[in-house]
Amino acid sequence: MKAVYIERHGGPEELKYGDQPDPVAGPGEVVVDIHAASVNGADWKVRSGQSYRKGQFPHVLGRDFSGVVSALGEGVTDLRVGDPVFGVTEASREGAYAEKIAIKAAIVANKPDSISHVDAAALALAGLTALVSVEDTLKLRDGETILVQGGAGGVAAFAIQLAKHIGARVITTARAANHAYLRALGVDEIIDYTAQDFTKVVSGCDAVFDTVGGDVTERSFAVLKPGGRAAFIASGPEAPKPPRSDVRSLRPNVARDRPHLERIVALVSAGAVKPPEITLFPLAEAAAAHRVSEGRHFRGKLVLTVR
Ligand SMILES: NC(=O)c1ccc[n+]([C@@H]2O[C@H](COP(=O)([O-])OP(=O)(O)OC[C@H]3O[C@@H](n4cnc5c(N)ncnc54)[C@H](OP(=O)(O)O)[C@@H]3O)[C@@H](O)[C@H]2O)c1
Repeated sequence: MKAVYIERHGGPEELKYGDQPDPVAGPGEVVVDIHAASVNGADWKVRSGQSYRKGQFPHVLGRDFSGVVSALGEGVTDLRVGDPVFGVTEASREGAYAEKIAIKAAIVANKPDSISHVDAAALALAGLTALVSVEDTLKLRDGETILVQGGAGGVAAFAIQLAKHIGARVITTARAANHAYLRALGVDEIIDYTAQDFTKVVSGCDAVFDTVGGDVTERSFAVLKPGGRAAFIASGPEAPKPPRSDVRSLRPNVARDRPHLERIVALVSAGAVKPPEITLFPLAEAAAAHRVSEGRHFRGKLVLTVR
């Protein structure tokens, strides 16, 4: 099969498009013929060696995908060959930038025809991360106020819509060019972080969801009211230490499972969450997608089309 892989860490030029062995479904696994795979911020961090996770080489990148089941491993009874499915690889495995992937059946979910393969790939890890962060970790409630840092990103698009669906007031940060897009997602208040310091104009938040990292992480604690909680997904595997004792700092544990993927389907099917804006690249042009991802100022999601 064709895949995009690295033989060593480095820049986007290290991404090779070529033949890799076809995966085989082990016990409890299925092989999925991938139609679309998404590009996540983690991918260029793994590629360049900046991730806390290190792979063996050759290493096929990619964490989420949508496709069609083409083989069943021993013991798989709840999926059939021909089923459209989508999913996210286990935290310790990757391999979605490829024509095929072997993955545990228990962590993929059926994809309804009403959601395209491209949209399902774009929604999988971003949606899973947003659900685990906003619902399971922050436990956001109706009537609360949340600041979502980095509103124009893929995880944030899902998180903003989910927070509105829960009944929260949503504030976000983004460059002015992204404000119309964010208003269409339902955001109540947008701060142009290039013109205003969010710590000067936001206060009394019940929750913060930080998808940006760096100094934004440190400064996010300032906007919380006493008893507030903040969740961080862009500042490493541990929750950052808060500079004050009356708030909680949380690092969502984004485990992979089918129920969360089914919740994504339910929210999208109900119209509560729309897929983010998507920019497409053919699989063979993954390097170009990485250059855009690494720039950290594109809107929505980048998706690789595979077949
Ligand atoms: N399981 C996990 O823990 C998990 C899963 C998925 C993603 N992540 C991490 O979560 C982060 C977000 O990923 P993503 O794919 O949603 O988006 P991303 O590609 O990392 O971020 C893109 C967005 O960030 C915005 N941005 C950049 N600097 C900003 C700043 N200082 N303030 C506000 N916005 C800023 C940009 O919008 P503007 O053009 O408006 O600046 C851009 O639209 C990444 O670090 C990723 O590695 C973690």
